[in-house]
Amino acid sequence: MGSVLWDKRLSVGSAILDEDHRGMMDALNELNENLDSPERLQDVFNRFVHLTGVHFKREEAMMRASGFMEIKEHVREHQGFILSIGNMQEQLKNRRGVINGELLEILRTWLLSHIMKMDGKYRGLLHDQGSKPLQ
Ligand SMILES: [Fe+2]
Ligand SMILES: [Fe+2]
Repeated sequence: MGSVLWDKRLSVGSAILDEDHRGMMDALNELNENLDSPERLQDVFNRFVHLTGVHFKREEAMMRASGFMEIKEHVREHQGFILSIGNMQEQLKNRRGVINGELLEILRTWLLSHIMKMDGKYRGLLHDQGSKPLQ
């Protein structure tokens, strides 16, 4: 399985949110390149979890600031994903779980489909202006 790169068809019309998405996809690519190195996997996975948390908070804050209506279902999706990756992180830490190609594919599919279907709904409605990076 090769890298999956961000391209402008995935743009949600906000430079800062596009940059977040690109960073999350890069982290998944880095996991893919390190499937044979458990130590490295854990570090990169921790980074992915961190980036995801920061991004979701930022995106939700921008949706609220812009008065975007369909936020409830969106936030529910974010929370479900945070829960899943939090469990994976815990299992990795306790050496009870592994990240393999199959799991990576699930994460990638979720992320791409979320960006296209859910994030795509606010395309053109959110603005970078006034939002500050949360990290
Ligand atoms: Fe989202
Ligand atoms: Fe997003």
